[in-house]
Amino acid sequence: MKVSVSILKEYNRLINAVRKVNESKADFLHVDVMDGVFVDDVKFPLEVAKDVISYSKKKIDMHLMVNDLDTVIKYASLKPDYLTFHVEIIKDNKILHKIKNLGIKVGLAINPETKINKLLPYIDDIDLVLFMSVNPGKGGQEFKGEVLDKIKEFKKTTNKDLIINIDGGINDKTIDAVKEAGCTLVVSGSYVTNSDNYDSKISSLR
Ligand code: DX5
Ligand code: ZN
Repeated sequence: MKVSVSILKEYNRLINAVRKVNESKADFLHVDVMDGVFVDDVKFPLEVAKDVISYSKKKIDMHLMVNDLDTVIKYASLKPDYLTFHVEIIKDNKILHKIKNLGIKVGLAINPETKINKLLPYIDDIDLVLFMSVNPGKGGQEFKGEVLDKIKEFKKTTNKDLIINIDGGINDKTIDAVKEAGCTLVVSGSYVTNSDNYDSKISSLR
């Protein structure tokens, strides 16, 4: 299992958190961008995201909780390894091609309430699906187990070899069911960053 560590809950001591992720065995640094419209909060404006990326030694897994496709393109200019935005805002496949042409792997995130058929027109043009297991907007929320059935249903519907990522409430209690549902990458925030020993938490998710 690949692990992507979200530093959202460490927003007030970002450099310290990026350093701890750098020193850990995490596969990715997960950057949660929020625009104050798609979700209430504002986090990782472009300049902050840029600084975080330049300080990070890990691959960047960027999760855009933004309402505007122009904003998606702006963040693509930072060249993260993975760029994921929400299926709830996509209009057509053109933006996926634009991002791929920049050499970035592209993902679509899907909220707990959104049906998987929303994803189907795009699956040939994406590398990853990010299933939200909480309502997006903040860290430290409780895992919504219903999402696991959605993942299983999605995997039955498509035989394309996509990265299946999950985000929200991932910890040592929820990880077994997440593995069983077929996820290949997990995002974990507070479970890892509330600890002094990131690696012991990361190992428990592998
Ligand atoms: C929620 C964010 C998550 C969040 C996960 O909107 O997308 O990445 O930081 O935090 P935990 O693991 O604490 O639920
Ligand atoms: Zn996220």
